[in-house]
Amino acid sequence: MTGGHQPIRAVAAGVLLSVEQGQSLSQCLPSALNRVGDHERAELQALCYGSCRWFHRLDAELGDRLNKPLRKPDRIIHHLMLVALFQLRFSDRAATYAVVNEAVEACRALGKPHLTGLVNGVLRGAQRDEAPEPRDDPARFSHPRWMVDKLRHNWPDDWQGILEANNTQAPMTLRVNARRFTRDQYLALLDDAGIEATPTRFAPHGLQLARPVPVDRLPWFADGAVSVQDEAAQLCTTLLDLAPGQRVLDACAAPGGKTCAILEACDALAEVVAIDESADRLPRVEENLERLDLVATLKQADAARIEDWWDGDAFDRILLDVPCSATGVIRRHPDIKLLRRESDIVPLAGIQLGLLNAMWSILKPGGRLVYATCSVFPQENHRIIQRFRKQCADSILVEPEVTWGRDTGAGRQLLPNPDSHDGFFYAVLEKPEP
Ligand SMILES: C[S@@+](CC[C@H](N)C(=O)[O-])C[C@H]1O[C@@H](n2cnc3c(N)ncnc32)[C@H](O)[C@@H]1O
Repeated sequence: MTGGHQPIRAVAAGVLLSVEQGQSLSQCLPSALNRVGDHERAELQALCYGSCRWFHRLDAELGDRLNKPLRKPDRIIHHLMLVALFQLRFSDRAATYAVVNEAVEACRALGKPHLTGLVNGVLRGAQRDEAPEPRDDPARFSHPRWMVDKLRHNWPDDWQGILEANNTQAPMTLRVNARRFTRDQYLALLDDAGIEATPTRFAPHGLQLARPVPVDRLPWFADGAVSVQDEAAQLCTTLLDLAPGQRVLDACAAPGGKTCAILEACDALAEVVAIDESADRLPRVEENLERLDLVATLKQADAARIEDWWDGDAFDRILLDVPCSATGVIRRHPDIKLLRRESDIVPLAGIQLGLLNAMWSILKPGGRLVYATCSVFPQENHRIIQRFRKQCADSILVEPEVTWGRDTGAGRQLLPNPDSHDGFFYAVLEKPEP
């Protein structure tokens, strides 16, 4: 510990406690990173992500090692032991020799000296023993039971693969700004910079890096040459069938990854309107547009309340990237395993269907709407499309000619692929001409 900094495991335990109490890692990690030394930041991030990723497995083991649960005011020490257990189970053995002593020191720094004996005893036991064989699927796959059950029910042939993919570390993927460079040109620039990359299989402007790098190492990043965006997210522009002169709406736009992809894909669009209801997230769209030197009309609004923001001019193209469970991107956001509740899904589906109905009403006849989620639950995906089409029988479901994903009968589902893209869902709908 140096200069007012706190022991890294104590800080990580606090982060894990905040996540358990409902905050996302992206909400609570930034301030936590300021409480450790510069050289410890990467390690703190790895500890927090890893402990969330393996929370359910580690928690099962810790539960077995404790005679009784800790009292509520001491809950942070439970999380401290989880963080240390993560290191014991998932770091190579040589790196773990100091873990127990440092966890004991962190216990003291957290103001719980009466629990140092417990922390020492539990962790020494874990260090001595082999990792136990997980006793059930939630522990084996390290997911909450409801997610395991739901995925098994939804994807009887794929659920284990999905759960395993969720526990991997996602690759870093770039979208080359087609207005600046071709993919091959940028690949050559990466090569010159000693950064290994390969073209993505399905997205035309994507490059997947062999290893993640800080964005400031990417050639011309600050000047808008590339953006960081998963391959599945990049596919939206291929489905929108963009053409010069179109008026395009991105209805749930922040942080703007897809807004920018739309503008890069077609440079003579009449207008791109980007809406998001979150005042905190909308500035991120502005930042991305600025870096890429692109222009869109931004509005902070609930897109479904069209009377609040719509000017009466219908759209040729609408991208509806709805709020969802984000169960297709768990490998990038392992805190979703702790944050999401089974009871969230029905209300989310209600919001999704409501947004779809509202957006349909402002789509031009002959226009196209792309519905997207980063979810792997049919309830938020093809079942929304089926429910919508029951109410709106004249909507045309377009079957895109693509080689990726699976046809669900009402849209295409990508499952998370440990070697490449995230889990995603897309459905393409067209409004008939009168
Ligand atoms: C999946 S994210 C969008 C990601 C974005 N399309 C991108 O590619 O960068 C969903 C967004 O919808 C926004 N949102 C949720 N409900 C909304 C509503 N009723 N109207 C507008 N935006 C909404 C959230 O604030 C969130 O930023």
